[in-house]
Amino acid sequence: MNRRRVVRVPASSANLGPGFDAFAAALSLHMELEVEETGSFAVETDLQIATDRRNLAVRGFEALHAPDRFTFRIRSNIPLSGGLGTSAAAYVAGLMAADHLFELDADLLAHASELEGHPDNVAAALCGGFVVCADGRATRFDIPAGLEAVLVVPHDPVRTKEARAALPDVVPMADAVFNVGHASLLMLGLAKGEWDLVARGLRDRLHQPHRAHLYPRSARLVEQAPELGALGATMSGAGPTVLVWCHLEQTAGVVAALRREAEGWADVRRTPFEPMGADVREL
Ligand code: HSE
Repeated sequence: MNRRRVVRVPASSANLGPGFDAFAAALSLHMELEVEETGSFAVETDLQIATDRRNLAVRGFEALHAPDRFTFRIRSNIPLSGGLGTSAAAYVAGLMAADHLFELDADLLAHASELEGHPDNVAAALCGGFVVCADGRATRFDIPAGLEAVLVVPHDPVRTKEARAALPDVVPMADAVFNVGHASLLMLGLAKGEWDLVARGLRDRLHQPHRAHLYPRSARLVEQAPELGALGATMSGAGPTVLVWCHLEQTAGVVAALRREAEGWADVRRTPFEPMGADVREL
């Protein structure tokens, strides 16, 4: 019988405002990769993604083992507009499939971070929950009870490469200090379940202002979110998707307000944070 594995990996939202390239949270949208040793290479998917060796799940797999004799079947309900960690999910899926098939016990976070270029999304995809990345390691913590997420997903995509190119090489000391303070407020708020600290801690000066011109409507919504009844909002990863943060009593009203604001240019999705990281099953 052919060897087969199925890997299920969550979407993720990186940065969480002040934690550029360091903070992320997993979201309950998923990519599923089935890898079967059929004897020949193929990628089967309905998604608008590469079906050759450039496919990111194949590249993840290839980092650990040659993909020649394997068929890759990919399904996903993660929107492809940008900012929800699809490339991280794909790398993690491919790596985890190869690691499990060949019992390699590889350092998946290190491999996935190298492929992706930064650790935030891949750490959330691997661990689930919330993560803080530093020194090549990810520290996971649970989603605070009562915290909910709403995604605003624009129809027009933006490439992460373009969003990374918009960032300056050097930032003013005052902006770095601003982010240290706000990242600390956010982590304290999440650890203690104190919503006023979370709300204050969502602000950023290192990346969001430099990228706002790429997606002005998303950027405006981030500013506007508290007026719409939310704790606040952050650009999800490199954008253009916006992560709107709510306490559960706020969410229904916020969704209605966001639907009015996003009409014609974005979809609004109530999407729980995801406690479980990637998992692999043998078929
Ligand atoms: N931290 C990354 C960024 C996430 O903002 O560019 C996107 O992949």
